[in-house]
Amino acid sequence: MRFDQPADPNAADQGRVLGRPHARIDGPLKTTGTAPYAYERHDVAVGQLVGYPVVSAIAKGRIKAMDTRAAEAAPGVVAVITTLDREPLPKARMNVVHLFGGRDIQHYHQAIAVVVAETFEQARAAAALVRTDYHQDPDARFDLAAERRAHQDDEVEPASRVGDFDSAFQAAPVKLDATYSTPGQCHAQMEPHASIAQWKDGTLTLWTANQMVAWSRKALAKAFDLPLEKVRLDSPYIGGGFGAKLFLRADAVLAAVAARATGRPVKVALPRPMIANNATHRGLTIQRLRIGANEDGRITAIGHDNTTNTPPGGGGEEATIPTEHFYAGANRLLVHRPLEMHLPESNAMRAPGDTAGQMALEVAMDEMAEKLHMDPVAFRVLNDTQVDPGNPERRFSQRHFVECLERGAREFGWSKRNRTPGGRRDGVWLVGHGMAGAYRGSPAQASGARVTLKPDARVRVETDMTDIGTGSYTIIAQTAAEMLGVPLEAVQVSLGDSDSPVSAGSGGQWGAASATAGVYAACLALRERIAERLGAEPGDLAFEDGQVRHGGETTPLAGIGGDGDLVAEDRIEFGDFRDKDYVLATFASHFVEVGVHAYTGEIRVRRMLAVCDAGRILNPITARSQVIGGMTMGVGAALMEELKVDTRYGFFATHDLASYEVPVHADIGEQQVIFLDGEDPCSSPLKAKGVGELGICGVSAAVANAVYNATGVRVRDYPITLDKFL
Ligand code: MOS
Repeated sequence: MRFDQPADPNAADQGRVLGRPHARIDGPLKTTGTAPYAYERHDVAVGQLVGYPVVSAIAKGRIKAMDTRAAEAAPGVVAVITTLDREPLPKARMNVVHLFGGRDIQHYHQAIAVVVAETFEQARAAAALVRTDYHQDPDARFDLAAERRAHQDDEVEPASRVGDFDSAFQAAPVKLDATYSTPGQCHAQMEPHASIAQWKDGTLTLWTANQMVAWSRKALAKAFDLPLEKVRLDSPYIGGGFGAKLFLRADAVLAAVAARATGRPVKVALPRPMIANNATHRGLTIQRLRIGANEDGRITAIGHDNTTNTPPGGGGEEATIPTEHFYAGANRLLVHRPLEMHLPESNAMRAPGDTAGQMALEVAMDEMAEKLHMDPVAFRVLNDTQVDPGNPERRFSQRHFVECLERGAREFGWSKRNRTPGGRRDGVWLVGHGMAGAYRGSPAQASGARVTLKPDARVRVETDMTDIGTGSYTIIAQTAAEMLGVPLEAVQVSLGDSDSPVSAGSGGQWGAASATAGVYAACLALRERIAERLGAEPGDLAFEDGQVRHGGETTPLAGIGGDGDLVAEDRIEFGDFRDKDYVLATFASHFVEVGVHAYTGEIRVRRMLAVCDAGRILNPITARSQVIGGMTMGVGAALMEELKVDTRYGFFATHDLASYEVPVHADIGEQQVIFLDGEDPCSSPLKAKGVGELGICGVSAAVANAVYNATGVRVRDYPITLDKFL
């Protein structure tokens, strides 16, 4: 079905199951350690070998020679396959760098060989015996600050321009001109990249951990020059993604290469210390924000100039994204400067663009409010807009940002905060309060599903949608239960198999709204099948308590298709009215209380509140989990996380979980999440939006603003570690 106009207020669902809190249906499998993750698929592909990656020790140059003799002679080794043994694989679709690219080295820890053995230990030991000679290219660029200085006068076509920024900024009576930097960040997902590959009868099967099954199926087909139907992916359980698993990675390619060479199934996981440099990261940014306002606090000019690293052909971290649409202001200039460097591949990480952008923008808004002697909440309320400031032809389909701000201020007790920075003590702790706004777009992607009604009234839903820990299994089961009037327990959900209908996948916070809409479409198609059976019109049927009511009669769903299954498949396509007439976005306010130790500078986050405007919430439990996960990640970005670049050699030195710090439970105080009630009829037939990426946006700035309020020291360089303000 096509979704090409706002949803009917009397949609087919009654909110009996959808919109209600349900614990995740895959929870027991996960808490008992029995959910089958890719590396532990012992139930598939008999006779698995283990592959261990060999990775480049230089960041840019060429391989002169590789000596694999010692590795080949090591115990248990079945094969050593180097990137010189074969034609370089073509670049996989949508990947920025080559995953197994021949002699040319594009980045540090690029995969250059895979050692295959009977056991993991044998493969790892032998991998250490591979000797590689390189020609190192001295003309390599690793230092973003230096590159920025070299390119600061480059003429760049603005990403967006409205009005006349330069004149308006110059004329503004109150101005801010400040520069902020954010480091590279690692997804640090719990489950590393991992795949088992098998070749059988010309078909490549991959049991893997991947957010976008259909994209990666195409990527594999391209890399191995296979027709699409000769590639199958299975990715039912995924231990975190955050964007790391949007695209094919080296684990998949090495496993496939090794399985083909040995004629046996091969499994490969990227060891944790390889992930940061071999896979992708959130790019580094240096952002200059200029805001001009009238004395009354109205913004007249807003400029955002972002510099970021990218490998050749990439887009870098688009930190200007939020500034395009968030606050009012007639004169706007956004400039995005991705500089080609030789660091590992920067790519999408949770709310790409928006997270890093709001780490700067929302601190700049705080600084600007201070210059204006305004409350930062009131400053944001004053500059709210219902019209897209980047394109006045469009309105926000729904924007309750002011409600987020006002409700948050009330619930948090914002009026009781101390307005003078550095002025509140609690024993040895300096106490501070900060807030920020949050913005994240809410796109949609076409999504398909197949729904089967069994003779016993059980329902099976199949789609290649993924659950990266987000709750997809649960909201999809809720959708089918809602639409067919059966209990949640009667619905079985199969995800992540490329043999199932192609879905939206998990990315860009479009997954929940898009995939449930696809299941909704398939359920409507199944209702039609049922109506045919009953000789009724689909619109006259009511589905409830395992029964269908029609014209005063009641028929049990069980047996309605006789002894066989009733099967229906459909797909939701989203019409362009969404983007032509509207901006679809989600909003939040974040309020944070921190304590900063007066002598050591240790920062403790004491309590956090988020108020979210994200359309209809399909399941308050899983949605809240998404938001508190985002808030926690935002604390990490504010205070801890940094892929520290060794600018001599071009690698991230903090490439394991000992040196790349992320928050743990003990780092996080009280977290409260409030969802505003709001259905967005422009978003999907179920009026839902995404929330998983909204949860991180703005959080780090709220923490930074609270640290400023506690100490009176403004740190514009993340992460805010104690050395930066003592
Ligand atoms: Mo997201 S960074 O599109 O998984």
